[in-house]
Amino acid sequence: PKTRLPVPAAVSAATAAVYADSAEDRVSSLSQVSGVLGSQWGDEGKGKLVDVLAPRFDIVARCQGGANAGHTIYNSEGKKFALHLVPSGILHEGTLCVVGNGAVIHVPGFFEEIDGLESNGVRCDGRILVSDRAHLLFDLHQAVDGLREAELENSFIGTTKRGIGPCYSSKVTRNGLRVCDLRHMDTFGDKLDVLLKDAASRFQGFKYSKSVLKEEVERYKRFAERLEPFIADTVHVLNESIQQKKKILVEGGQATMLDIDFGTYPFVTSSSPSAGGICTGLGIAPRVIGDLIGVVKAYTSRVGSGPFPTELFGEEGDNLRKAGMEFGTTTGRPRRCGWLDIVALKYCCQINGFSSLNLTKLDVLSGLPEIKVGVSYNQADGQKLQSFPGDLDTLEQVQVNYEVLPGWQSDISSVRSYNELPQAARRYVERIEELVGVPVHYIGVGPGRDALIYK
Ligand code: GTP
Repeated sequence: PKTRLPVPAAVSAATAAVYADSAEDRVSSLSQVSGVLGSQWGDEGKGKLVDVLAPRFDIVARCQGGANAGHTIYNSEGKKFALHLVPSGILHEGTLCVVGNGAVIHVPGFFEEIDGLESNGVRCDGRILVSDRAHLLFDLHQAVDGLREAELENSFIGTTKRGIGPCYSSKVTRNGLRVCDLRHMDTFGDKLDVLLKDAASRFQGFKYSKSVLKEEVERYKRFAERLEPFIADTVHVLNESIQQKKKILVEGGQATMLDIDFGTYPFVTSSSPSAGGICTGLGIAPRVIGDLIGVVKAYTSRVGSGPFPTELFGEEGDNLRKAGMEFGTTTGRPRRCGWLDIVALKYCCQINGFSSLNLTKLDVLSGLPEIKVGVSYNQADGQKLQSFPGDLDTLEQVQVNYEVLPGWQSDISSVRSYNELPQAARRYVERIEELVGVPVHYIGVGPGRDALIYK
């Protein structure tokens, strides 16, 4: 069912018949702890919504992943920023950014990002806190990532080779190093030695020597000093902030279809980008979490390997890729593109309990004579599947049943109110709402901050 906020008095009756809220109402009514999560295979445009909402929150927090996220946002002067580990809230002076315990941190990369922001006039000092419990991602993890992908040859995962998976592996095998270990340089070298030796015993191509270890320890001694002002017990900070009624926005990286548990395993990321990851990655209780906004592109894209039932090939796929500029922010890799997959989206909505959706890149579909939506899957034997399958063999063989909706021919990138969208575009939005049972509250019609319709 659609949830509607009260209609502001200033909105005319004609307008109110179609969209009930002003942008102000939409944003200011969000709960004390809210989140923005990806609901496809990533790159849905989460960064832009976080950036738009951030000024209304005291804190913006990342709970999982590392520099494998690649949010692209534009500041008020239209300047483009590609953020990786630093939360998108950094572009707003009054916002505190938190990198939680569930994230993994490549310290040199973190400083590079900060240097880049500061050289563009964005002040970072005292505005970013890094959890003392977060795991450290070393160059060795990046090397292992590359070696592992090379070893997998044809069945490679298609990782960003940023070492995220190997770092989470170290965490789970319990020999990882955490940010708090930087405060104990006397034992840091021995712990790092275990990781290096592990990698060398597993991969022939991994070069290990005592001098590599010594150099790395020296480098980290310098990093430890520079990182110290950023280190905090973020579990304590966040829970205290909740007590003090401060507003926290959780910025998801990647997406549910890439979740280590719920995604298309093994073609997934190594963390939990779905709702559960907020609790484990920040140390806050489930009952404090309020609104969760699922970000969904008006079509689907996916980077790397793995099944993609509604994928478009040939000219159709190329056209969508070009129109949507679907090339990775972090790696530049062309993204695979296809129609919107309602079966996968419903599955994401179930897992996360989204209170609303942000439909992004609706403008990219302008000009198409018709738009298809994948509404159900049939198995190879013709039987309809009741849910999104966990077994990839089943998923690879599904036949997608499509609904065909009329397209619209006009450019919608300068439209700012729901009423002004062409009727076919509104029909598309409303059909998605009907099919998934979650209201669309935000519609993206362009990359800029202002190119957003509040519904
Ligand atoms: P990940 O965490 O890597 O998944 O990042 P993300 O979800 O924030 O997506 P990312 O920023 O990498 O990609 C989205 C791209 O689409 C960026 O270039 C945005 O500027 C752009 N974008 C966002 N919303 C819209 C929109 O409504 N229309 C158009 N045309 N572009 C958009």
